[in-house]
Amino acid sequence: MAGTIYVLNGPNLNLLGKRQPEIYGSETLADVEAATASQAREHGLAVRFLQSNAEHQLIDWIHEAREQAVAIVINPAAYSHTSVAILDALNTFEGPVIEVHISNVHKREDFRHHSYVSLRADGVIAGCGTQGYRMAVDRVAHLVKSLN
Ligand code: DQA
Repeated sequence: MAGTIYVLNGPNLNLLGKRQPEIYGSETLADVEAATASQAREHGLAVRFLQSNAEHQLIDWIHEAREQAVAIVINPAAYSHTSVAILDALNTFEGPVIEVHISNVHKREDFRHHSYVSLRADGVIAGCGTQGYRMAVDRVAHLVKSLN
């Protein structure tokens, strides 16, 4: 494997499939993990797929990614809109960062229109459903190849 992508998921995404399916769809996070890992394998990449409801845990995984990951794909969920601490952590990571939102945050409430994480992200995918994770992996593969 040419490297590992850390795929980080923020609060409430453990309830994917059960949580507001009219917005987030019916796939579970385990379904998304399987599809993301399979897409990464197509590119010769591995995935470490993680979810936490705790801000500090996401930050600790970003610190771990500094040593272990070629790229980070992150759906920070509600922390996108609130967390300077996650932005600061991502700013310590040197590889590509792709931000994913399952829903189109720009079509929703005003408070979802701003993301601290977007200040660091090399790319942002929103409103493409869970397919956004596979798109993020394709983008990472492209960036990692062009960096080598
Ligand atoms: C989300 C959008 C956020 O605004 C929201 O807080 C989430 C999920 C998405 O994937 O569409 O929890 O990041």
